[in-house]
Amino acid sequence: MAEKKIRVGVVGVGRGMSFAGMAEQVGMELVALCDTWEEKLRQAGQRCGVATYTDYEEFLGHDLDAVILANYYHEHAPFAIKALAAGKHVMSECIACKTLGEGVALARAVEKSGRIYFFAENYAYFNYVQEMRRLYQAGEIGEVQYAEGEYNHPVDSRTMNLLSPGLNHWRNHIPPTYYPTHAMSPIMFVTDTRPVSVNALSIPRSEQDEQRLHVRRNDIGAVILCRLNNGAVARLMGLMMRGHSIWYRFHGTRGLMENLRTGDQSSLRVLHEEWDRREGEPAERIYHPEFPVHPELAEKAGHGGGDFFTSYYFAEAIRRNEPPYLDVYRGIDMTLVGIQAWRSCLTNGAPVEIPDFRQESVRRQYENDDWSPFPEDRRPGQPWPSIKGEITPSPEAIAYARSVWAEMGYTGE
Ligand SMILES: NC(=O)c1ccc[n+]([C@@H]2O[C@H](COP(=O)([O-])OP(=O)(O)OC[C@H]3O[C@@H](n4cnc5c(N)ncnc54)[C@H](O)[C@@H]3O)[C@@H](O)[C@H]2O)c1
Repeated sequence: MAEKKIRVGVVGVGRGMSFAGMAEQVGMELVALCDTWEEKLRQAGQRCGVATYTDYEEFLGHDLDAVILANYYHEHAPFAIKALAAGKHVMSECIACKTLGEGVALARAVEKSGRIYFFAENYAYFNYVQEMRRLYQAGEIGEVQYAEGEYNHPVDSRTMNLLSPGLNHWRNHIPPTYYPTHAMSPIMFVTDTRPVSVNALSIPRSEQDEQRLHVRRNDIGAVILCRLNNGAVARLMGLMMRGHSIWYRFHGTRGLMENLRTGDQSSLRVLHEEWDRREGEPAERIYHPEFPVHPELAEKAGHGGGDFFTSYYFAEAIRRNEPPYLDVYRGIDMTLVGIQAWRSCLTNGAPVEIPDFRQESVRRQYENDDWSPFPEDRRPGQPWPSIKGEITPSPEAIAYARSVWAEMGYTGE
């Protein structure tokens, strides 16, 4: 980490500030920030003491080696493509692309550029997920047959409004399947599988149990069944139902492993049936695994250490000039699970393929696919973000949302 510093710029000063704070620890030097929200940018620029830009093209003109994208969730692909074309390495927050057509363009752009693209899926780097990968590779549970991944994160109406300033903010419009990467990345990372098809069902918001003082037009949750390329099945669950849950389980041909549901949830439970036990092997063991490398830095980082490892492995990939594990193809695979699952939800669970964009022949079939639930793409044939169709927030909800946005200095629609 003491080698020549990689000059990095961050786009988006919300979530982006956690990347900004991590730069130095991984041998990067933060040199610029970019955001269109001027006041937030000014404050962030002062805190970090670096150049600030409201215009992305000008920001790319700064002397930078790498760009970290933490701008709006569904606008990463066009920003990544521009940065790659300008010769920058890219780390992108989830999701990788908002449509299949964008995914095709992104995969091609990464290949053409020869630069590093890193998909910043921090949930793959929890202490217990890294340990699950180590155990899996050592044959502890054999081959995966069934896996579960849950990322369910409920918030109250006030927090919802604070997180989503603007009637058209992306959080107010993402279908509940569109945030699958936190549930999916540990499954792919532990087992080295890729998803090949999905069947999904959506769960609409209920009139009775919602406070409804927010302006979300999407469903509250979804369950996705995912066929993996070794024949196994994974169940993904999320997104905002009551009962916070970050949980992963793997059933294999020789045992089971999962993180604990209660108590120390970053502890791991490994289980073997009586007839599978090897000599001296306990039927059950529960322990809190250490991080495999740099535990002192990981323990201080957000998201269970994951925020350290995404930046760390991004910097490592640049220094070694080798594609990272969370490369563009895995980023697109995970992202497509969410998009294709929404297609499945709208047909009440019919199977939908997850195309493999590693292959140009497959890409050609999807390069014009611009199916999108976002307001800027609305036209006949585009989906709503709820299986109930168009949802109109109440005047009370809009008034309350506007009062929260005013408090935080948001002046847009
Ligand atoms: N991995 C994680 O644990 C995690 C956690 C939080 C957020 N995220 C992801 O990080 C991203 C950002 O999340 P957030 O909560 O900060 O979202 P946000 O919508 O609150 O913030 C996005 C920021 O980008 C800025 N922005 C938008 N368009 C821009 C443009 N054209 N040029 C420059 N700046 C622009 C906005 O002004 C805003 O400050 C999302 O993709 C989200 O999914 C990931």
